[in-house]
Amino acid sequence: MPEPTRVLDATFVAGAPNLAALPPPTLAEVAFAGRSNVGKSSLLNAVMQRKSLARTSNTPGCTRQLNVFAVRCADDLSVHFVDLPGYGWARRSKTERAEWQAMIEGYLRRRASLRAVVVIVDVRRGVEEEERQLIDFLAGPREVSAAKPIEVILVATKLDKLGAAARKPALAAVRKGAGGAVVGFSAVSGEGSEELWGRIRTAVL
Ligand code: GTP
Ligand code: MG
Repeated sequence: MPEPTRVLDATFVAGAPNLAALPPPTLAEVAFAGRSNVGKSSLLNAVMQRKSLARTSNTPGCTRQLNVFAVRCADDLSVHFVDLPGYGWARRSKTERAEWQAMIEGYLRRRASLRAVVVIVDVRRGVEEEERQLIDFLAGPREVSAAKPIEVILVATKLDKLGAAARKPALAAVRKGAGGAVVGFSAVSGEGSEELWGRIRTAVL
């Protein structure tokens, strides 16, 4: 068994309202995407081993900027994590949604240091139309020269909301809907964190 991941430093670097405000692409970057309220910020805190570095909330649509964190692990792995604003927030105006889409798509297409996108779904809902669109979008051509395509890491979170007997079939259903591997996760229990770190490591190294 490899050593469990130990996060030595995790710091907030920037809250970017647009792409020009992002820090220079000096570190390999992993972005976290999913619909509003799915648990992106909570997952980030669990993975960064910090209680409340990424802001979490009961109000969907809380994260509106590209929030960038720098994370350094005991094994010398250094990465940027980017908490993306959630999609599917119906109460936003049409203009706001169009601006959001342009910003996210620009980020995904043009961020040279972006290596992987963690696509987060609720284990009780699985992959729906929005996630499928996102995954298809990520398979499209990038507008920067990059050595490798962007890796998609699918995570089914809020596993703790299900009883022990319901977990396996729920994860199997998500896997089937996605047509690929899925990491089961809970920000409450912390399960899945090490598996996710394994996937992140493989994607950035
Ligand atoms: P936006 O930034 O608004 O898009 O939301 P988000 O995706 O960052 O979600 P956030 O982490 O703020 O969590 C939304 C709500 O779900 C909060 O009330 C969290 O406490 C709760 N939550 C997140 N992850 C889990 C989990 O693994 N288990 C349980 N039971 N609740 C969770
Ligand atoms: Mg958030």
